[in-house]
Amino acid sequence: MNVTIVKDYESMSQEAAKIVMDQVKKKPDLIVCFPTGSTPIRMYEILVEENAKGNVDFSNVQVRSVDDYVGLPPEHNQSYAYFLDQLFFSKCNFNPNNIRLIHSCAPDMKEECRHYARMLEEEGGIDLIIDGIGENGHIGFNEPADKLMDRYHVEKVSEWTRKVNARFFESLDEVPKFAVTVGVLDLLEAGMFLILSNGTKKAEAWRRLFHDEYISADFPASLLKLGRNVHCILDEASASLI
Ligand code: GLP
Repeated sequence: MNVTIVKDYESMSQEAAKIVMDQVKKKPDLIVCFPTGSTPIRMYEILVEENAKGNVDFSNVQVRSVDDYVGLPPEHNQSYAYFLDQLFFSKCNFNPNNIRLIHSCAPDMKEECRHYARMLEEEGGIDLIIDGIGENGHIGFNEPADKLMDRYHVEKVSEWTRKVNARFFESLDEVPKFAVTVGVLDLLEAGMFLILSNGTKKAEAWRRLFHDEYISADFPASLLKLGRNVHCILDEASASLI
């Protein structure tokens, strides 16, 4: 696990955007999973600006999913598909045929996950996964539990996460109870797994990650320690308890 600590949110976003641009330059048909949440918003703004200036070309980049809520159609304003499209995909020169997100409203989600995993395997695996970290240590929607699932799967969203994410919905009742998410082996096998974190809200999770001397399913972020290709960019606030 590789850790870079930068001054603030802007520096974290600039650094992350630079990594994405470098990776795309090295491999124009990069297979990449882009995250949602508030953390990557500024990174997307920078990438949109750089794309408009012609400094990065997304036309051959292959986009896949980190996670999404089960049961929210892609046109729902809180679905992750909608969030990414509004903020990022529709503002850059992505080829819509290259954007293949997991269908979070498929009638048989288990089959959809199997199908998605097969597709990625045939494609040779994910080159780059970017994600944030939950305040409770979740990664994607891999929630604290007694076991962690290896591949894309459906997960019950913890009450903690539902409450944290309720800020995006009209009420807590509207926050979906299930989500589909990348699994832990998917994360660890990616060419690069880039984790972004800003703000003091995440500081306790990083403290635990660095101070616990074990890896445990009840704190999914601890799995980051297993990855050789894991790169974390934290701002000083997130790193304040390390
Ligand atoms: C969400 C997503 C994660 C994301 C995390 C952090 O629930 N499932 O993929 O990394 O929470 O969100 P934020 O960036 O808003 O702190």
